[in-house]
Amino acid sequence: MSWQETFELVRPELGLVEQQFRTEMASGVPAVTAIGQYLQISGGKRLRPALVLLATKLFGNASKAAIHLAAVVEMIHTATLVHDDVIDEADRRRGRPSTNSRWGNHTSVLAGDWLYMQAFKTALQERNFRILDILIELTQMMVEGELIQLEMIGKLDLTVEQHLDLVHRKTACLFGACTRLGAVLNGQDQQTERLLGEYGRNLGMAFQLVDDLLDFTASEAALGKPVGSDLREGKATLSLIYLLEGCTAEEQAKVATVMEERSFQSVPWEDLLEILHRYEIPRRVKEQARLYSQNALQYLESFPDSLYKRALTALPDFVVNRSS
Ligand code: IPE
Ligand code: IPE
Ligand code: MG
Ligand code: MG
Repeated sequence: MSWQETFELVRPELGLVEQQFRTEMASGVPAVTAIGQYLQISGGKRLRPALVLLATKLFGNASKAAIHLAAVVEMIHTATLVHDDVIDEADRRRGRPSTNSRWGNHTSVLAGDWLYMQAFKTALQERNFRILDILIELTQMMVEGELIQLEMIGKLDLTVEQHLDLVHRKTACLFGACTRLGAVLNGQDQQTERLLGEYGRNLGMAFQLVDDLLDFTASEAALGKPVGSDLREGKATLSLIYLLEGCTAEEQAKVATVMEERSFQSVPWEDLLEILHRYEIPRRVKEQARLYSQNALQYLESFPDSLYKRALTALPDFVVNRSS
């Protein structure tokens, strides 16, 4: 099953999610509506709502609640991106100027806050404490992830464990929540919820590891956001942690220089890429991502065969092999 075929399985529902998202963005305050519409129109892969819907459809048709919650997770995701771009001073997102570069930091922070609240307001309509539990815990994890990341800025002595914990908080928890919601919405037992949650969490780990790798190996045209940005932002991702473990003192000094200067002025980007490839770092990071994606699959084993299970089974491979 291809990536397109996977999304095709939830195409009508994703259309409804889009409508819901659009409706939710309307506010009495024009600034909020303008930013909300800008964010909705700028698109994105809509991977998280697709995960909610595919997981839901393992158990039957997607209810209205499933559509609402698929929109909710995309709103939470969008809010974190708006805040993340303020923190990272990123000027582009999804191939267009980021909200912060268009409206400035102050407006963007408030718009992000508004979006979070709108997401929770929509979720609250389900009157389901379990759902609120999941969403609130998840949002706190993501904010904690961003806070921990801020403390780690500029540090080169991060351990693999520290980094993976960050990835877990920043990205994997949201993926896990999306798939868990599929079980919760259908009144499944805790074990089913746990299995689906672990599937999503492992998928999310693979997704972020590959995303961080693409920051080195892809182009801005392919990603719709700047490349080489993690280093310029002072973030040591798995590629760098692996590299620093094995390279020479001279090469370590080059990495340290880029981190200090927050630019590729003294050490050209091409030099850094050459070192990374020479130590086969992209292969090693991809291998780690593949481990997570294989791990994800094991949590699906006990579910009966269906088109939706096949779609969920195909996703980890796409995530690991994606180039944009
Ligand atoms: C970007 O997520 C943030 C990360 C977790 C790396 P996506 O790549 O899913 O962003 P959009 O929604 O498709 O733009
Ligand atoms: C992922 O962080 C975004 C969140 C989960 C908040 P990144 O900083 O790596 O995401 P990009 O690269 O800006 O999309
Ligand atoms: Mg960022
Ligand atoms: Mg990134």
